[in-house]
Amino acid sequence: MNQSVKVFSGSSNPKLAKGIADHLGMGLSDIELKKFSDGEISVKIKENVRGAEIFVVQSTCCPVNDNLMELLLIIDAARRASANSITAVMPYFGYARQDRKVEPRVPISSKVVANILQKSGIKRVLTMDLHADQIQGFFDIPVDNLFGSLVCVDHIVSMKIKDLVVVSPDAGGVDRARFYAKKVNAGLAIIDKRREMANVSEVMNILGDVKGKNCILIDDIIDTAGSISGAARALKENGADKVLCYAAHGVFSGKAYERLNEAPFEEIIFTDTIPIDESKKLKNMHILSVANLFGEAIKRIYKGESVSSLFV
Ligand code: R5P
Repeated sequence: MNQSVKVFSGSSNPKLAKGIADHLGMGLSDIELKKFSDGEISVKIKENVRGAEIFVVQSTCCPVNDNLMELLLIIDAARRASANSITAVMPYFGYARQDRKVEPRVPISSKVVANILQKSGIKRVLTMDLHADQIQGFFDIPVDNLFGSLVCVDHIVSMKIKDLVVVSPDAGGVDRARFYAKKVNAGLAIIDKRREMANVSEVMNILGDVKGKNCILIDDIIDTAGSISGAARALKENGADKVLCYAAHGVFSGKAYERLNEAPFEEIIFTDTIPIDESKKLKNMHILSVANLFGEAIKRIYKGESVSSLFV
């Protein structure tokens, strides 16, 4: 890569950032990230960035607000040090689920995040499997939204699962599930779920034939794992044989680890956009790395080549 391209890592996912830099055949650039004793974040870029094309890798996962603030401060430091362009590389984009007013007197939090990021002086956002596509329109700068399917489909196909049915855990995920079903040449089923309160889900009905079939539930996010583990149980109760699941982003908050370990999953597949808590391993987990995917996208952005042609 050209000397003027620099990749910095925030503190949210240094392993993924290193994998991205490795794909680009370069090291991570030097930055010092610390906290003051009251919790304020301190950032110091430790090399010249004048005129450089900067890529800052930071997933805004837990601790969400600290990671977001750290990203903003790194961007500000790079801008004030005369970087030519700054791209926020956000493998996981936090606050994406608050993307519209679902009731009166609530914020559109992802729009707030977009406003702040844009104001910080970035030229572009590079992310993956945004919860809602319309978030791209919350920015007036380019947003490249990669697809985790580029790594996941090959893995599913390599498992050579017979009688496979792709299942959407809710009505909102039907387009995604249909896309995967087509890619892996499988049937399609839908779980009709009613959510009574945030983070509490209730499974209702299964639309489609799952009896005696091997099912893979596909979602964008597993957070508390209430949705996906409830869906897995419903599939089993309706006669499914093996049940697997794939989600791009393993947020894993609250009781997620317990729920996933108790649920009847043959395999739990997710990517490394968010680092896993090593002290709480999951049974049957399979982590797919998106480092090469992001590395390739960064290379194409820098060289002015097509990113969408990665998807075909
Ligand atoms: C919701 O619209 C998302 O696609 C996920 O289904 C949801 O965020 C999963 O949340 P949880 O794991 O807490 O049920």
